[in-house]
Amino acid sequence: MWFEKKDILDIESLESNEISMILDTAQGMKEINERPVKKVPTLRGKTIVLFFQEPSTRTKLSFDTAAKRLSADCLSISKSSSSIVKGETLIDTAKNLEAMKPDVIVLRHPSSGAPHLIAKHVKSSVINAGDGIHSHPSQALLDMMSVRERKGKIKGLKISIIGDIAHSRVARSDITGFSKMGAFVSICAPQTMIPMGIEKLGCTISPNIEACIDGADVIMMLRIQKERQGNILFPTEREYATLFGLNKTRLKLAKKDALVMHPGPMNRGVEISSDVADGDCSMILEQVTNGVALRMALFYLVAGGSRHADSD
Ligand code: CP
Repeated sequence: MWFEKKDILDIESLESNEISMILDTAQGMKEINERPVKKVPTLRGKTIVLFFQEPSTRTKLSFDTAAKRLSADCLSISKSSSSIVKGETLIDTAKNLEAMKPDVIVLRHPSSGAPHLIAKHVKSSVINAGDGIHSHPSQALLDMMSVRERKGKIKGLKISIIGDIAHSRVARSDITGFSKMGAFVSICAPQTMIPMGIEKLGCTISPNIEACIDGADVIMMLRIQKERQGNILFPTEREYATLFGLNKTRLKLAKKDALVMHPGPMNRGVEISSDVADGDCSMILEQVTNGVALRMALFYLVAGGSRHADSD
């Protein structure tokens, strides 16, 4: 099978066999990152632009690392260092980037739909590195890769996602991705942080955190996205931690071999206690390690893989 997609914009537009192909490719890339010399010539001569209009530690650095490990030339601009601050529109900025002939543009943007918009205006592949509250496909793919690697499968697992679902693009992409791959997804959050109709993405809403965690194979904790909340949606962080935080006592409700995940950044003592975040069940840093291999796979598939075989 060939990977035919020009862009990676969201999980909704990926078929389950395309998701499997991405995860298989990422698994193959992982070995490169364990070598003494972590570099292969696969994307030599290709140019990748990282355009991040929101802060990022993990996503930006792992896309950057992924590009360099595949020998692509990787350029980076931020909102504050671009002419967006002088009033240039996103589409004009994208067209000007396109004029420099990059092969891939990776965009993080505060507005939902921004990567979809520029993908219509440029020939380069566009990868969504997180848009507003909408989608974070590379995060969901690395989460699926991490679970599949550790559990040997995704189908049939109970995945519990707990936190600020309403403002989390990771939640939307994870719910869509894990349910597409045959997992049972259960979510839990304060009523004020559960968006209307979220079940349509493929999840059930648990009445409380204990019910959500009960028998879980994977527990995914999410931080409260205060930067996206217009109003205060919960009384205090202490109350939030009491009602919705993951601690050692609650973790015992999950399966014995349950995995604890978090896309980061974590707010220790709020959605997750430090002893759980750093405990034996935690695979939070493994997610970050897998993020590099997963993003290498995305670059390979859109810029150097089978879609480009004719021009090689
Ligand atoms: N998971 C994630 O998107 O983290 P960053 O915001 O640090 O990239």
